[in-house]
Parts: sequence; structure tokens; C-alpha cells
Amino acid sequence: MRIDILSVVPELLSSFLNESILRRAQKAGLVEIVLHNIRDYTTDKHRQVDDYPFGGEAGMVMKPEPVFNLITKLQAERRYDEVIFTTPDGNQYSQGTANRLSTLGNIIILCGHYKGLDQRIRDHLVTLEISIGDYVLTGGELAAAVIADSVVRLLPGAISDSESALTDSFQDGLLSPPVYTRPAEFKGWRVPDVLLSGNDALIDRWHEEQALERTKLLRPDLLK
Ligand code: 6GU
Repeated sequence: MRIDILSVVPELLSSFLNESILRRAQKAGLVEIVLHNIRDYTTDKHRQVDDYPFGGEAGMVMKPEPVFNLITKLQAERRYDEVIFTTPDGNQYSQGTANRLSTLGNIIILCGHYKGLDQRIRDHLVTLEISIGDYVLTGGELAAAVIADSVVRLLPGAISDSESALTDSFQDGLLSPPVYTRPAEFKGWRVPDVLLSGNDALIDRWHEEQALERTKLLRPDLLK
């Protein structure tokens, strides 16, 4: 898989992308993540990436030309399955979307900035608009990092225990059951007896019950 991330502040993302799971997945050749600075695709002498909105509202708007130049250059090099724009008015991101994106070959993530992006780019080049929640961030870089992280960890081989991505919270529509590790007793607090029983069928059933209980209690909306 290849993920191209387009930003006016790509430095914000470089350290995040070069650590931990994301770094290992790139080293292992599971994914190639390429950062691009939109400003490098301006053609005017001030290298301007934003401008005043027609109509006179407050805030600046991302200009169409540099974004167009960059996206069409990439598309001339390879086929992209999605051109994603991160924006607070996009579709709410979910594990389902992460799962689908993880099956794709090449994606572009264009990070929103300023008051927004010239609508003509959204109409003609963007294929998917994503928000990561109902709050406003300064820019779409954190959203791009969220998308890249959640997608890359799903790639086969990205995390050591091949099963563990499938048992994440949300993968079966439920929250994960509680987890415990040694010691079996800590400060007088005991691990539930069933987990020490060695009875796999009983333990599986306990996990399922706990997942359902926790979901009922903490996220009843997921059960609807
Ligand atoms: Cl994708 N961008 C910005 N700027 N704010 C957000 C967001 C994205 N998702 C939630 N808030």
C-alpha cells in the first residue's frame, strides 16, 4: 500500500510517521508513506497556498492551483483508489472505514487547513471527505495521522500478534473485554478466577459476556 499525505505543514507529521508501528510497517515494506509540501507546487513568486475568500467572510481559503498541480502529478504517476480530504464537515471516520481503506492499493490524504479548501477541488478531485469527530482542529494533519495509524496497523504483518487487530474494540461492533496480566493478585486485588481456570471455552464465554456488558454500559449506541 502507498499513502501520499499532502499538507502545508508536513513537518507536523514526519516524526509521528517515523516511529513505532508506522515505522516498522514501512521498514517491512508493507506500506510506503510519502509526505508532500503543498507549497512546493505553487507557481507564483510568493509561493502562496491560501487567499481571501470571494464573498468576504473571515478566514483564508486553500488555493486550488497548488493542490491541483500536486494531485494531478501524483495521478499521472500511478492510479489512486481514493483522494481523501480531511475536514470537520466530512463523513465521520470509523473502524469500518479504516477496514475498507486498509484493503486499497494507493490513497492520497489531503490535509485541510485555514477556513477550508476551494470547493472546485472538492467537487472535481476529492473522492472521500473524512472528519474524525465533532470538534474543530487547527488543521487536518492530526486527522491524517489518525487515518494512517488506524489503517496501517490493519495491514497483515503490521502488528506482531496476527489476531490482535481482529479482536480490537469495534471490530465486532463491541468494546473489548477487560484485560489482566501477572501478578494474579496485586495489592489484594485479584484477577477474575475464570481467567486462571485454564478452561478455554469458559474463558471465551467470559470474554464475550464482558464485551457485551461493557458495551451496554459504556456505549449502548453501538448495540442499536
Ligand atoms: Cl479532518 N480537520 C479539522 N480541521 N478539524 C477536524 C477534523 C478534521 N475532524 C474533526 N475536526
